[in-house]
This record gives sequence, structure tokens and C-alpha cells, in this order.
Amino acid sequence: MAKAAVLFETNAPLEIRDDVEVADPAPGEVRVRTGASGVCHSDLSVANGTIPLPSPIVLGHEGAGIVEAVGEGVTNVAPGDKVVVSWVPQCGECYMCNHGQPYLCEKNAMAAMAGLLDGTTRLSSQGTALHQMGMAGSFSDTMIIPEISAVKVDADIPLDVAALIGCGVLTGVGAAINTAAIQEGDTVAVIGCGGVGLNVIQGARIAGASEIIAIDMMANKLELAEQFGATTLVKADESDPVMAAMANGRGADVAFEVIGLGATMEQAINMVRPGGEVVLVGVPRMDVFLNLNAAFTFLYMAKTVKGCWYGSADVRRDVPRLLAHYRAGDLKLDELISRRIELEDVNEAFSAMEAGEVARSVINYGIE
Ligand code: CU
Ligand code: ZN
Repeated sequence: MAKAAVLFETNAPLEIRDDVEVADPAPGEVRVRTGASGVCHSDLSVANGTIPLPSPIVLGHEGAGIVEAVGEGVTNVAPGDKVVVSWVPQCGECYMCNHGQPYLCEKNAMAAMAGLLDGTTRLSSQGTALHQMGMAGSFSDTMIIPEISAVKVDADIPLDVAALIGCGVLTGVGAAINTAAIQEGDTVAVIGCGGVGLNVIQGARIAGASEIIAIDMMANKLELAEQFGATTLVKADESDPVMAAMANGRGADVAFEVIGLGATMEQAINMVRPGGEVVLVGVPRMDVFLNLNAAFTFLYMAKTVKGCWYGSADVRRDVPRLLAHYRAGDLKLDELISRRIELEDVNEAFSAMEAGEVARSVINYGIE
């Protein structure tokens, strides 16, 4: 039996179940003993209905662990391997994978976001099937995931650090180094300095930005932003972020929106210079639409607005690349972890996140 935190209905606390049955991995699947799971804002977004997924569901998609068993035909990984969970399985064979956009792998249909590749699930409790967020469910001490979701990492990488790579770091750093085209010396603005925003900031630093304007309403998040490389801090309830980006007389070269609100997306678009680039990273509700002046934005100012899914990551290229930056000391990962908690504390971690308290709470399952 496995233990898992389960969402039974939107806006209700997660329930800890210790009677979770785990089916054997089917062909092409692997069983992972979960070592650590970040508590990501997207978990909260499922819990509060911003991201509509079916319930009951085991949340958690930012995970890492150790392979315990493999199904028929699995060759990528073997029992004993340390793996990061990629919540976007990347098959390497489909049209998108062959067109340099594996983050949009066609095996990753939205319909399957709450089950495995065939839409079904391997977890159940008291006879009821439990969906698995991101084809994983890392709020369970045991997961069955597709083989193509498992990315092997070196044995000496700590599991909590590995877990963070799987969502917040790939998404944020990826937005800066993959999605955007930041050039040496650029001025970059980042609206929203939570777990992902901090990673956009450190990604922009790695990409060579010389000025990084961090924008948030919370003083504690701005303080963290500075530690991760921000050079100018703007408290959005005290001064106008667009004016701050315009202080150089031109606007930012690249701006990132990492909240998911229409108003801040419009701000991001308005604060870049003519010819500038905007990357939208935040997760909006399904009913958000933008209000833009088409002529000014796209014609006279020739701005580019880019969508961003999973940091435009190619996980088999990017996970090793990010870990190399971590080993070299220029990617801060340990510093992202503000609290190490147990599975039972997950609801408190949600409250802390809603209050804007923490960069990342990480659930530790007590294995090395
Ligand atoms: Cu996430
Ligand atoms: Zn594919």
C-alpha cells in the first residue's frame, strides 16, 4: 500500500490516504519510489479549480525518485536509477518531437493530463481509481509513470534538488534560455517573483542579461529576487512597473509575465521596447482574454509575444544542462527550497503559498 495526498473535490483540503493500491507498471511504464516532491503553484491551481482536472486525483508533478520496477519493453531506465519526473512525456518520435518542440509532444494530449498515456490510472483507494496529475502524482510515495517521463540523473544529485528541476526550474530557466532570445547586455523585466519567477531571473542572468528588473507586490519575494540576480526591484503597489522598465528611455528588451493575470500580461507587453520580446509564462484562468492595441503592439512597435509551455524544454537535453550549471555554482537550487516538509503538511504548504510566504516547500519522503 502506498500513501498519498488526494484531492477529492475542488477547494477542499487534500486527504492523506495510506491505503492506496498501486497496480503493476504496464508495458512502457516504470514504478518509482518517490524521494521528493515540490509543492508547485500548479498543484494549488488544480486544487482551487484554476486548472480544471478530474478528481479524485493525486496531485504533485514536480517529483524525483528511484526506479523500483519496470514494465515490459522499458530500456531507458532500470531499477535503482535516480530519475526526475518530466510531466511532459517526450517520446522523441512524433511530429513535434521531430520539429524541435518536444515540450509539445503529441503523446501529451490534455485528455491524458490526469492519467497515464492511455488515459487510465494505476492508483486506487478503496476501489476508486485515483487520477495522477501530470501522468505522475508525486504527492504519493509510489508513482507509476511512463518510461518517457523518466529522465535519469546522476546518483549524487540530491532528490529534493532533482525534484525542483522537473517543473519550476525547467519552466523558469527554460523560459529565459530556450523560449526567449536574450542577448548579452539585455535589460530584462520579470513580473512575478514566486518559485518560477525566481528561476526566470536566474535563467536571464545565465543568458547574459545585465539589468534584471524584478516586479512583485511582496517585499519578501523581491528580497529573494535580488539573491537570484535581480538588479532593480519594483514593488508594484508602490511604483508603476511599466514606468520602471521605461526608465532607460526605451523599455525592456525582453519581459516575462509569471503570474497569469490579464492585467500583468498587458503590462509586460507595454513595457518592452519597440522590437522587444514578451514571454508569457504564468498560468491564467480559462476565462482570461487580453486587451491590446493591435496596430501599435504588432505593426508600429513590431513586438513579439511568445507563449511558453514547460520552458520550451527538451528534457533529455536540458536536465543534464541545468545540472551542469548547478554543479558549476551558477544555478541556485538548494536556495529555492524554503521549507522541507512531510506529506501530511501539504495543506499547510498550500496556505503558505497562498499567503505568498515561500519560494518552495518540498515534501521529503525519507529516502536518499
Ligand atoms: Cu509545476
Ligand atoms: Zn513526441
